[in-house]
Amino acid sequence: QTIQEIKEKMEQGLLPQWILTDPSIYEREQEKIFARTWQFLAHDSELPEPGSYVTRWIVDDPILVVRTNDGEIKAFLNSCPHRGTMLCTADFGKKKSFLCPYHGWSFNLNGDLIGVVAGDKVYGEEMKKDDWGLRPIAQVAAYQGMIFATLDPDASSLEEYLGGMKWYLDILLGRSGGMEVRGLPQRWVVNTNWKLVLENFSGDPYHVQSTHRSTVELGISPKDPLYAGYGHQVVLENGHGINVITAQGQGRPERPPYQGLPEEMWPLFESNLSKEQLRVFAKTTVFVGSIYPTLSFNSPVHGSEGHLHNYLNFRVWRPLGPDKIEIWSWFMIDKAAPDDYKEDAYKGYISSFGPSGTLEQDDTEIWTRVAQTSKGYMARNKVLSYNNLLNYLMGFERVLPDENFPGPGIAYPTCYLDAIHRATHEHWLELISRD
Ligand code: FES
Ligand code: FE
Repeated sequence: QTIQEIKEKMEQGLLPQWILTDPSIYEREQEKIFARTWQFLAHDSELPEPGSYVTRWIVDDPILVVRTNDGEIKAFLNSCPHRGTMLCTADFGKKKSFLCPYHGWSFNLNGDLIGVVAGDKVYGEEMKKDDWGLRPIAQVAAYQGMIFATLDPDASSLEEYLGGMKWYLDILLGRSGGMEVRGLPQRWVVNTNWKLVLENFSGDPYHVQSTHRSTVELGISPKDPLYAGYGHQVVLENGHGINVITAQGQGRPERPPYQGLPEEMWPLFESNLSKEQLRVFAKTTVFVGSIYPTLSFNSPVHGSEGHLHNYLNFRVWRPLGPDKIEIWSWFMIDKAAPDDYKEDAYKGYISSFGPSGTLEQDDTEIWTRVAQTSKGYMARNKVLSYNNLLNYLMGFERVLPDENFPGPGIAYPTCYLDAIHRATHEHWLELISRD
């Protein structure tokens, strides 16, 4: 009944506010969404050699990601199959084998149990070591160096899941022959809900002119309140979406092509991308979007004319509860970029995003308050009258797709639009309604 009511409201461009932080909805999401979709674990460059490993999370499941001696990437539950303690407690490193701190069982890079302390004496010669290896994650796959996993053995392939998003990931990650992660992902906890932050990155360039008003006041962003809206908002399958922002409104000087990346890199773009991809890339200032459900990205341009730099920020919104997330944020840059360019781009990232970033703090404050205001009696009142409904009506049944946009997906000729939000929440409803 409730699902049917939510559906009816969503078809009218409205979202019941209580669904953001409702504990029973969260329980459903864990089973129906997080356990059955593809989740980002690591970038290839974080595991440079055989024996390299990182420890990550898929919501509440600890995951050990390892590069084997054959160069393959494997992922296991980071929990010893003897009594379940966490096997590896470091964030990253390089090892030949993993030794459990509890009773000293050890495992090789393929997850096989290779050592049991006093094994033949306490378990007998007949102990079947083959049965007690690390528990593998159901499916692991990579696209453009991005390593994903799903806990669902029956989930469709990663490539099928990403669908049209691959075309845009080729631009973001494959344009110059590969990206590299700098340092470790930054991590911090924010009291908000994952759906809310996901939608902010998926399709909310509209908030920039207001939430990040200080950048306009400092002269970093243009005064035109529509500036973050120029470009295309693209709705993709499976809840994914991207905004291809040109920021090229009236009176704005023409920006250099390819997000201001150094001219010596342009031939690489031309050899790695199709004509259509180059056309979109050349005109774009910012790419911002999400791969459903918990991975978002932002590829902005910082600096002043003549000294612009671009980077790629990927972030996982790891749910910790209905009103708590742990943000994991990776700084990535083209391997082929000059060293001083990488350094400047990194400074641009650190001062804008991550725990020390000014823009990040603007957003965090707002996100926390939406979660706070979604838990009260009025917002939780499931009568579904207007006192608990939020407005997702921007461009509703009014803005039509631009058939001439060269990339995949349904592309609308503005980024000030709730099209991705509506599609994402509809996808959410479909997932939590399934058996
Ligand atoms: Fe790992 Fe006992 S829990 S060896
Ligand atoms: Fe923001």
